[in-house]
Amino acid sequence: MPQSHKVTLIPGDGIGPEVTQAAVRILEATGVKFEWESFAAGAEAFEKYKEYIPKELTESIERTRVGLKGPVTTPIGGGFSSINVELRKRFELFANFRPIRNLPHIPTRYPDVDLIIFRENTEGLYSGIEHEVVPGVVESLKIITEKASTRISRFAFEYARNNQRRRIHSIHKANIMKMSDGLFLRCSRAVSKEYPEITYGEHIVDNTCMQLVMNPYQYDILLMENLYGDIVSDLCAGLVGGLGLVPGANFGHECAIFEAVHGSAPDIAGKNIANPTAVLRSALLMLRHLGEHDAALKISNALDHVYRDRSKLTRDVGGTAGTSEFADAVIAAIQSQKSATLSPVH
Ligand code: NAI
Repeated sequence: MPQSHKVTLIPGDGIGPEVTQAAVRILEATGVKFEWESFAAGAEAFEKYKEYIPKELTESIERTRVGLKGPVTTPIGGGFSSINVELRKRFELFANFRPIRNLPHIPTRYPDVDLIIFRENTEGLYSGIEHEVVPGVVESLKIITEKASTRISRFAFEYARNNQRRRIHSIHKANIMKMSDGLFLRCSRAVSKEYPEITYGEHIVDNTCMQLVMNPYQYDILLMENLYGDIVSDLCAGLVGGLGLVPGANFGHECAIFEAVHGSAPDIAGKNIANPTAVLRSALLMLRHLGEHDAALKISNALDHVYRDRSKLTRDVGGTAGTSEFADAVIAAIQSQKSATLSPVH
């Protein structure tokens, strides 16, 4: 009997349920067995459980140690704190891994982009510590610690060493935030000394944005604190065809949650037009994490086929197909493969 994987599923809200459902159908078409433990989070969970992150969800992740997550809306300028940030902190998912690669056959400004962003996921300005000093004056605390900065730096350098990557740039604003970003830099610099085979560089974040738009090939791995990682990820998504395509993973020592870079996209939610590719590519990362390399290869080949064929693409990448039609096409491409023999491209 093949092993069955217990996975915590957080469909999320907005386009979340549509894109995660498409990904789940595709995952199941590979023949790998899953036992999904599905939970709401955020506003929807609050209605049902009076908690934004229900106890049952926390317990499930503690048990399964693997999650596949759709986006969860965070109210703007008030309301409850980000569930996404809270989950990363609660499970110490300190390393946010975002590979930025073109999908073949999608026209973009640059072909063959191959970048990785490592974003520190637990502190920085996302510590959410804010208060009103006096009326009209508000303070937000940016927390940077030696422990977290060293931990994410080591994770990025280990990844580079184990995956034959050549260069890491630490991205910062230590010219202005001399103490906080200065500490982040000192930690990444110290870790870099342990990896002499990897070229280490430092760039200021605003310059990095310009450099990425002008010539993304000069970078290999970008290492940065939380807020810069959030912003630079979306910029990089724009380099390779948009938010509908870019996957992500949140790794801790105990567990991992896989989720796309994009948010809940309220502008297109409930219309069956969102692109599930980003969540699906996140699920591919999950399959590899689970050791299901054949299934990952099957999906990767199927995606390649569907993007090459172009007749079932979603609107964001120039097609007219709906979310579910795209998923059906990927499933048909999986079923038509006798065996996965091509090399992975995604
Ligand atoms: P967003 O990523 O939801 O949308 C930005 C733009 O990209 C929109 O035009 C949207 O239609 C498009 N887009 C996003 N995903 C797409 C997909 N799969 N297919 C096609 N088009 C797609 O960012 P926005 O609007 O800034 O945030 C909306 C909400 O999502 C906010 O409440 C935010 O806090 C939340 N959010 C949640 C995240 C998470 O759960 N990890 C991450 C980012 C934002």
